[in-house]
Amino acid sequence: MDSAHVESDLVNVLFTEAQILERIGELAEEIERDYAGKELLIVGILRGAVMVMADMARAFTRHVEMDWMAVSSYGSGTKSSGVVRILKDLDTDISGRHVVVVDEIIDTGLTLSWLTSNLSSRSPASVEICTLLRKPEALQMPVDVKYVGWDIPNEFVVGYGLDYRERYRNLRDIGTLAPHVYS
Ligand code: IMP
Ligand code: MG
Repeated sequence: MDSAHVESDLVNVLFTEAQILERIGELAEEIERDYAGKELLIVGILRGAVMVMADMARAFTRHVEMDWMAVSSYGSGTKSSGVVRILKDLDTDISGRHVVVVDEIIDTGLTLSWLTSNLSSRSPASVEICTLLRKPEALQMPVDVKYVGWDIPNEFVVGYGLDYRERYRNLRDIGTLAPHVYS
């Protein structure tokens, strides 16, 4: 789905598909450099990170293992609840492994700060975070994020894996959702 297909639902297009792919390529290059000579496991947070994971994994010019976790921090609205539950855990034992958690957006930081301390307790060799988007103004918990695509204003965005009530995930671009859609 393109922005044109949901034009009246968006205030603006923040990042086009081409811009997103280019930035993900840069992040992959950076990660590849940092983990040269080491085995790497990237962990995608379902469901939002599916697109980032798929494009990032393919941007690598090396082998990378992929695993997935599902956590719930939200109801179905547009605000974080702060309550984190593991809905699907890793299939991989990460002890001694180098792990990069891949997410599509850090909003309050509650999910990822909880998740990194959870993963750190499993004795990995290292855990770092990569997120495509971050909302610095919304941050409530300090999260040490090593790889960030872009910092964005504190507005609700959709597309490229980001949803509002399970819609817009399949939008190619990332756009700001028009308030009339959720109010
Ligand atoms: P946090 O715990 O507040 O950092 O929120 C993390 C999760 O909330 C993200 O992984 C998204 O699934 C969801 N989220 C936060 N902001 C947005 C947004 O602007 N659009 C869509 N989903 C969002
Ligand atoms: Mg998410």
